[in-house]
Amino acid sequence: MNGIDSWIGYDSSGILAVDGVSIRSLVNEFGSPLFILSKNRLESNYKEFADAFSRRYSSVSFFYSIKTNALPEVCKTLHNLGSCAEAVSSYEICLARKSGFQGKEIVFNGPLKTSDDIEYAFDEGIFAINADSLSEINEIIRLSRGRALSTTIGLRLDPFPEHNSKLGLDFSSAEEAFRQLRSRSLVDKVMIQMHLGTQIADPNLFSEAIIRLCDFLEHSSVYTVDALDVGGGFPSFPILTSTPLSIQDYADSICRTVTTEFEKRKWDLPSLILEPGRVLVSDTMMCVGTVHRVKSKGTDRWAICDIGFHTVPMLMSATYEITSGLLRGSKSRINLGGPLCASSDVLASSIELEDLREGDLVVVLNCGAYSVQFTSRFSFPRPPIIMIDNGKPKMIKTREVSDLTFSTSWG
Ligand SMILES: Cc1ncc(COP(=O)(O)O)c(C=O)c1O
Repeated sequence: MNGIDSWIGYDSSGILAVDGVSIRSLVNEFGSPLFILSKNRLESNYKEFADAFSRRYSSVSFFYSIKTNALPEVCKTLHNLGSCAEAVSSYEICLARKSGFQGKEIVFNGPLKTSDDIEYAFDEGIFAINADSLSEINEIIRLSRGRALSTTIGLRLDPFPEHNSKLGLDFSSAEEAFRQLRSRSLVDKVMIQMHLGTQIADPNLFSEAIIRLCDFLEHSSVYTVDALDVGGGFPSFPILTSTPLSIQDYADSICRTVTTEFEKRKWDLPSLILEPGRVLVSDTMMCVGTVHRVKSKGTDRWAICDIGFHTVPMLMSATYEITSGLLRGSKSRINLGGPLCASSDVLASSIELEDLREGDLVVVLNCGAYSVQFTSRFSFPRPPIIMIDNGKPKMIKTREVSDLTFSTSWG
């Protein structure tokens, strides 16, 4: 097999195959367009990630950021491998619970937690709530009164306030939050969380942030940190080919900095928490579509296919890669347009692909992160999702039916 990746390659007849299953056979069986998920790939991504950190740090746990891809099969697979879940709403806590995560395996983040959300999180006995503002801390304190609390109250700190993000507390608000928690005796466990963004291309950014957090904690006389949650943001490596980095470099930088900074201050080492999203799921999915029309317009050639920006939205720093479903041996440049009646619905301009003909398949690689969550039914129903489990295809989401548009529920 002529491989693009360990799970994707062209078979002897030049047809793209996923975990040994030809995408042409999947389109014949399930129609076009469709999403394909490789369970094997997901499992190996998680094992590689968990191994990189566990080999360098003794107390470490992983909370998969379920907003990245909340398909129940994805969540269940990761849970079976030992992952916990990171949620940012009651809705996501509920999804996590239904996917098998116990309350104590869930951490609750996000800039908006309503009173109902906080009560729900307490009722579910979740592991931790990371407060995002002083107002939220006050509400958490109010709602915790009279409860035997099993949930740790953490703070999301912003180590880089100069970036003007809406997320997290700056250091002076955090000092006030610690005062509030201390005065209510709610700091028997100190948990600090941060999240620096997504597709972070430089592991040293984590080190710099951890050093800033430790300096702040020392300055605020907080000498015991039970849990340090450094968030997510690890890039999808096969796509970031401009850098020769791997997850080992990130694990190295984070674990070394935490150990050095805590030992230097003679503090006990905290439990380390990671909230990976994209790095676990990005390259586990592809979207396969069909070229329906090929046309010339002026000097341009266009292929119009059935995948568009409603199927694979270019959001959250997406880094898709487009390839042909068939090796034809000769290549040419073409514009690849989607089916939407909008001139901006262009998947790629002047891209070199195998000579495309009507009926050929095209593939958008690396759409396991965020895209399935953002896929909309703008003008077209949403495609089915097929999971390949040890070479066997299984439909895990059916193609959306047009009737849903008339439903009174969002479906
Ligand atoms: C708090 C938090 N943790 C983790 C993640 C996962 O980020 P990524 O997919 O970049 O790893 C996100 C994503 O936005 C987040 O907001």
